[in-house]
Formats: sequence, structure tokens, C-alpha cells
Amino acid sequence: MKKHTITAALPYANGPLHLGHLAGAYLPADIYARFLRLQGKDVAFVCGSDEHGAAITIRAKKEGRSPQEIIDTYHFLNKETFEKLGISFDIYHRTSEKLHHETAQEFFRFLNKKGGEFEEKETEQYYDEAYKQFLADRYITGTCPKCGHEEAFGDQCEKCGSALSPTELINPRSTMSGNTPVLKPTTHWYFKLDKHGDELREWIETGKINGVQHHDPESWRKHVLGQCLSWLDSGLQSRAITRDLDWGVPVPAPGAEGKVLYVWFDAPIGYISATKKWALDNGKNWEDYWKGDDVELIHFIGKDNIVFHCIVFPAMLKAHGEFALPVNVPANQFLNLEGRKFSKSKGWVIEQHQYLIDFADFPNKEDALRYALIRTMPENKDGDFKWDEFVALHDNELADNLGNFFNRVLSFIQKYSDGKAPAFDTNLTIKGATEETSSTYSIFCKEQLLPLVEQLENDILAFEFKNAISTVLEISRLGNAMFQSNAPWKTAKENPEAAEIPAVLALGLQIAAVSALCIEPFLPFIAAKMRNFLGLPQAVAGAFERLKTLLNNGEAILPAGSVINEPEVLFAKIQNKKEPRWQELIDLQKTALAELMKKFEEEEKAEAKAEEQKAKATEQTAAKEPIEFDDFAKLELRVGTVESAERIPKKDRLLKLSINLGSETRTIVSGIAEHYAPEDLVGKQVTVVANLKPKKLGGFESHGMILTAETPEGKLFLVQPTEGVANGSVVK
Ligand code: 2FM
Ligand code: ZN
Repeated sequence: MKKHTITAALPYANGPLHLGHLAGAYLPADIYARFLRLQGKDVAFVCGSDEHGAAITIRAKKEGRSPQEIIDTYHFLNKETFEKLGISFDIYHRTSEKLHHETAQEFFRFLNKKGGEFEEKETEQYYDEAYKQFLADRYITGTCPKCGHEEAFGDQCEKCGSALSPTELINPRSTMSGNTPVLKPTTHWYFKLDKHGDELREWIETGKINGVQHHDPESWRKHVLGQCLSWLDSGLQSRAITRDLDWGVPVPAPGAEGKVLYVWFDAPIGYISATKKWALDNGKNWEDYWKGDDVELIHFIGKDNIVFHCIVFPAMLKAHGEFALPVNVPANQFLNLEGRKFSKSKGWVIEQHQYLIDFADFPNKEDALRYALIRTMPENKDGDFKWDEFVALHDNELADNLGNFFNRVLSFIQKYSDGKAPAFDTNLTIKGATEETSSTYSIFCKEQLLPLVEQLENDILAFEFKNAISTVLEISRLGNAMFQSNAPWKTAKENPEAAEIPAVLALGLQIAAVSALCIEPFLPFIAAKMRNFLGLPQAVAGAFERLKTLLNNGEAILPAGSVINEPEVLFAKIQNKKEPRWQELIDLQKTALAELMKKFEEEEKAEAKAEEQKAKATEQTAAKEPIEFDDFAKLELRVGTVESAERIPKKDRLLKLSINLGSETRTIVSGIAEHYAPEDLVGKQVTVVANLKPKKLGGFESHGMILTAETPEGKLFLVQPTEGVANGSVVK
């Protein structure tokens, strides 16, 4: 039987995770794993803490704690939070475990011994003489050569996003001692990634390995393929896979004292060691889940991890030779929070454990969050989490659609069927969502419910989770509409003995049971409640396949006579005048964010102003290079008269001017709105650069610019002839 190995990116155990992480990798992975289990597939869903690398040691240093204390704190916090949110990992392992160290070392040793995969090279690296230590990229800060940001890191400038190497930094400093580091020679192991370039390209572009079809490249997300191909196009190079550090997996080779494996070499091997531990504990063979043709490996990650999961790790697996390559890497894009990137350092963040604390009393808090995140999941483009949308999705979709339908069915069962699944005449025709879709119970199951259930299956298997959950809501919407068009409450008044009543109730119950099962991968807590009310046992492996068979045969999930429990409200609305405390909770969150946003806007304004002033000061003092007369003669300067001037909405600095240049009248957009009122300009003569290429400004095409003189304080004055001259006169 095929083995499905599902991995979710191992998060660094250096801090709590936020909603962006959850929506990016863990929630989609969980939906997929839960669904495969319902299909009866053999699944290993593995994750764990990534406990090496500079991220951990820097945090430890900042807090004056040991790395071990840091990883213990956050490993357990993250593990527990995932559990509380219903993320159903089969194992949540850690890379500090002995088993992981051994597995990563074995992998290294195997490739080192195999030959041809690694090379040892001596290079010069920054070294802190005070601390007697080589510096990881993140331990070096300096000025970004691209944008001048003074706090850029040795691997990246967080201001302009450029990838850097430590030696590119201007004025490098060690974050350990604050001193200027020195360059010192050191030897490291490099993985010859370039050697695998052709195979990787074949695998990415065609989905083939050595000419044999492995997966369909069409099933991969466009942005994932795009990133992979642009990496391949820019050429692969050997990558250092060891570091001079005392925290990590020691390099198992002679002469490697004081060196550890680079965190990105050992972390993905963490998926393998996690599987090993799970297999050991559960009487399985881990190799069945990683080696051979019967393995379907899927990595769930955020887009910042694409290259490691689609290029570097597959190359490592391929180099080893025995391992299966992933059949898909459905990386998500990023989730924003109220229109802005999550930023932990700025406090623009909702941490997942904090959400659970803040909403501790809120019923269904886990599924309410899961639902909002699934509906805004950044599958193919960035998503945005907004509190108002959280409320709307909860109240209008979960409460008004799913919850309402479920409650309606169950209360009718109590009222008109004695709390039991009714027996009914299977030959009877009842209305569907409309008159036109009237059919018998079994035709309804086969022709209306089954296609929706199959649609859901296709969407999940194509990693289209947003679409998939809409289909579940479509099922309950269909149930509501079917109830509405049959109006059993009316029939009950007119003819309480009518055969339609049990038939409609039975169909309603069937739809309720279908939605309870179909919602399980997405909202497992509410699914469990729904099943309890229906008197169904918890879903078991293979339940989905059984469901399809029943629907195809038009058979009831709950046979006549099954006891159905008294319903309770599934989702209490947030916007509820009688119970205002949920909305108050939401408002607290919104207010906190609004205050932060105000602060950011003020800071950004001040920053922009400071930069502008700096630029102006440079412009005022810096003399420009001498130019040839011919250069000056390229300018076509003419006098014109402003005929009309108006402000441009939302563009505080711009005015749209209509300028008569004698032979023509032109539209020119000018940045003088803070210096001249529109009415003061009309009738004034100005000097126009008449041969500038047209440019879009403030939404309008500007055909030239007007000349102004700028004082050192930044005030602008028009450059005008002292006496009126004919419009169009040339200035020279
Ligand atoms: O970006 C991160 O949080 C990394 N710790 C992800 C590692 S994924 C895998 F390779 F372990
Ligand atoms: Zn920069």
C-alpha cells in the first residue's frame, strides 16, 4: 500500500508562532493529512522543532539564557499550541534529540564516503578575536551596500530585502563584541549542488527522474515552479554545509572539531529522524515512508523555504540515492495582518498561543480561527487576516449557514420524528433546492450530494483548500434550500400524516451527516460535536470512501430508528446584542492594532520627511559635474501661462495644471501643491521643460514640468520672466 509522508516545515524553537505560520504551512498540512486518513490512506504526518542555527543562539544571548533553555521553552509551547489547535501531527519531534543527531551524521557520513558529492574548501571568514569565534552570517551587521541601511545582516538586508554575503557589508561589526571582525582562513565541507543541476531541472520542468515520470509538473503551483526555475537559471553553486559553531550537530569527520552541520543541512533530515522515532514507537518501518516507488512525499512550507525544499533537499536525497523525492511542495505565499506584513519585532502580530489565551472563553475558538485562516489562505497570492472578516465569516457562514442548517434538521427530528432518524417511503419524490430538482432520496444522494463530495475530494487533493471548504458550505446551503422549498413545518400544519415529512427529514439528516464528515479535515472540533449530536462514532480511517459508496447507493448514513440527540446552538454569533462580550473581545484586538497602526504611520511620515530633508541637503550643497553646452542645449525650455489648476484627490503634494504654450495647451502635473494654492497660480507665467517624455503622475499623464527654485528650507518658488512675454517664448 502506498505510503503518504506529509511534512510541515520544522519551526525554529526560538519563539512562539503566529497566525501567518499557521495559515502558511501547518493548517494546510493538517487538512491534507486528516483527509488522507479519512480516505483510509497510510499516512505519516511529521513535524518538530528546528533547534539549531544562529536563530536560537542569538535569542539565547539576547535573553541571557542558554540555548537549551530557549529550545525547551519554545519546543513545548509550540507543540502544545499545535495540539490545542487540532494540528494532528503523528509526531512532533526535535532536532536536539540524539536520534536526530545520529541520523543527520549518518547522512553526512554516507555522502562524504560515497565521494564526488562533497568538497573541502578553505575560505576566509569573519572572526571575532575577542570571543575567539568565527561569526555566523547573522552575527555580523554592517551597512548594506545596496541601500545604505546601517543595520543589515551578513546574509540579508531586512530593509531592501537584498541577499548579501558578510564580506559585502560596509563597516562590518560583530554582534558579539561590537568590534570589527577580522578575516581568517577556515576549512568547510561544501555540497556540490551544481552537479545535480541537470537532474533537478528535468525533475522540476518535466516531473521526470532519469526519464521516468515521477509527478505531473502541472500539479505544482506556478509560483513554486517560478522560484525553482529562476534559481536553476541563475546557476547552482557548491554550498557550505558546515559551520564553525558550538551549537548544532557535530560534523562527523576527522579534522572537524569545533564544526557543526549547517542548520539547513540537518533540519530537513529532521523529517526523516521524526519519521524514524514515530515508526519506532508505533511498530512501523520508517524506510517504507522514505524509500522506494510507493512513497508519496509532500512538503508543506511557506514561500521563504521553497529553495531548500525544491532544490537543496531533493538534491541531497538524490545524491544519497535511496530516497524518494517530493511529489509536490504546495508552498503558500504570505499572510498579512490587516494589510501589513506580520512583524514580531514591531508587535504587529497575533501569536497563536496568545489568541488561545485571549479567546479562552470563546466557544469554538479553535475552529473559528481555522475557518477564518482557511478562507483567507494565501495559496496562490498573499492573504490578509482581518478581524472584521473573522467576525463576518464566523457569523454569516458558520453560524447562519452550517450551524443554522444543522440545528434546523435536528430540532425538526426532535419535533416531528421523536428524536429518531425517520423511516420513509424511498419512492417518494420530494423537492430539491428548487422545484426543478425534485427527485427521490436516492437520486438526490447520487446526483446532488455525491458530485459535491467528489468536488471536495478533488480540491483537497489539488491543495485547493479554500475551494474545498466552500464546497462543504455548499452542501449545507443545499440542505437549507431543500428544507426551505419543501417547508416541512407547513406540511406538518396542513397534513401531519403526510409521507413527505419523514422523507424530507431523512434527507435533511443525510445532508447533515455528510457535512459533519466533510467538515472534519477543516474544523475537527465542530465535526466531533456534530457527530456527537448525530449519535455517530468519531470518524475512522476510510470513512470518506464509505460515505461515497453510501451516497452512490442512495443509502442512509443513519438508518431509520437511530437516536439523534437534542441539538444545541453550534455557533453562537459574535455580533449578538444580548451577549456583547465576544464583539468586545474583537474590538479590543482591533483597538490595539489601530493604535499600533497610528504609531507606524507617524513614524513612517517622520522617517520619510527626514530622508527627504537629507536628500535635499545633499542636493543643495553638492555641486554637480560640469556639462557640455550640447548637454544643456538638449533642454527645450519655454514660457507658458497657467490657465487652470486643480488639486488631485488624495495626492496632497500634486496639482494638475493646464498650461498655454502658445501653439498648444498642455497638462502638467507638478509637486507644488504645498507651496501654491491652485487659484494663486491661474494667470501666472511659468517656465516649462517642454521636451520631457510624458510621465504618469497622480494618475494623470504629465507632459513636461515647470521650473521652481528651492530654498535651503525646502520652500518652492516659480521661475518666471520678470515681464510678461508671449506664451511659447524659448528660454535660453
Ligand atoms: O524557516 C524556518 O522556520 C526553518 N526552521 C524551517 C525548516 S524546514 C525543514 F527543513 F526542517
Ligand atoms: Zn539594503
